[in-house]
Amino acid sequence: MELLCNEVSSQVKLHAKWGGVVPNLAAREHVKNITPLLDLSLKNAGLTSKEIDVIAVTEGPGLIPALMVGVNFAKTLSYLWEKPLIGIHHIEGHIYANFIQIKNQESGIKNQGHDSKFMTHDSQDIKFPALVLVVSGGHTQLVLMKDHLKYEIIGQTLDDAVGEAFDKVARILGIGYPGGPNVAAWAAKYQNPNVKCQIKSKCQNKRNISDQLLVTSDNNLNKNISTSFGIEFPRPMIHKKNFNFSFSGLKTAVLYETKKLKEKLRVTDYELLIPEICHEFQQASIDVLISKTIKAAEQYCPKTIMLAGGVSANKELRKQLGAAIRESLPPTAYHLPPLELTGDNAAMIAAAAAFRWSKMSEMQKKKAMNNWENLQPDANLKLK
Ligand code: KG4
Ligand code: ZN
Repeated sequence: MELLCNEVSSQVKLHAKWGGVVPNLAAREHVKNITPLLDLSLKNAGLTSKEIDVIAVTEGPGLIPALMVGVNFAKTLSYLWEKPLIGIHHIEGHIYANFIQIKNQESGIKNQGHDSKFMTHDSQDIKFPALVLVVSGGHTQLVLMKDHLKYEIIGQTLDDAVGEAFDKVARILGIGYPGGPNVAAWAAKYQNPNVKCQIKSKCQNKRNISDQLLVTSDNNLNKNISTSFGIEFPRPMIHKKNFNFSFSGLKTAVLYETKKLKEKLRVTDYELLIPEICHEFQQASIDVLISKTIKAAEQYCPKTIMLAGGVSANKELRKQLGAAIRESLPPTAYHLPPLELTGDNAAMIAAAAAFRWSKMSEMQKKKAMNNWENLQPDANLKLK
């Protein structure tokens, strides 16, 4: 299977003003953009509606106003074009981004017509059972896949998703929306030794103050980590026997630490600590994610470990999880979605639908013809 086009109409700039997605604004923008985007997609793919076999749409979970726009549009197309319609779980889409592979590194993703950069591929290099670490703005889950389209959630966050925590930390620090890429960029600054030296020399006499500002938590597990100002955050639930996560306490630790630093330091001195706060928060998140993934893999013995969701764009997470698998579970394959397809996109929904379609019986395919009538968006749709 070949990916003919993948058009994305991003609303990031619109929502940045509000520091997060505003549901009704999002729905209004979707209404405005969805028809021109279909037009553009057909043009770039070089297709007419007659050549379409099946229509796929995100059914849930998510914000109902936004989901309704997509689902109703897809239902209308299905009715008018007389094509079958498949509803896809958003996270299934993220997982299936792993089954899209880069064909040609050089060409661009946009407007490429039939010279597509991506192709879907079968399970040749993704062997089952597979363990997927799903990390997005709304989800943090460990999903065991015994086969294609067969999911068992073996652990998940009890409160905030990890992407949500990245976004909230960015908001606390005032470093912009969406938070994830910004926190990651500031954390990378901290890891550069030159930046570290600069901070130390500029704030030499502030070091004592900062030392007193250590976040002490009941879960202060990584005592060995010593950062230039000694900022430490908890690794929530890292030693718990189950595979669940919690990120809300970590976010609150960042909030309290930031408040304290703001009160004690001059604005310019406080700002010098932003890279360290970002680095330590990011590392605390990564430590928990990796530790739980490795423990789950030790118990379930998957042949492949995959990453999925918007936070899988995080370079440190990609790198450190790979290193941990090589060290602790060397025979296990490690698979990452293409960086360009880690965030929300239509290609991942199409890839999941293509696999679903290929496994459907003639009867099921016939039933999908009636989905223009039956399909409903579901804000809390479960992966199954
Ligand atoms: O999957 P996604 O695009 O949308 C949802 O389904 O939620 O994920 C968005 C999330 C946001 O929270 C965003 O801050 C986070 O992914 N994100 C990152 C990075 N890039 C995006 N988090 C950490 N590091 C990144 N490089
Ligand atoms: Zn997503």
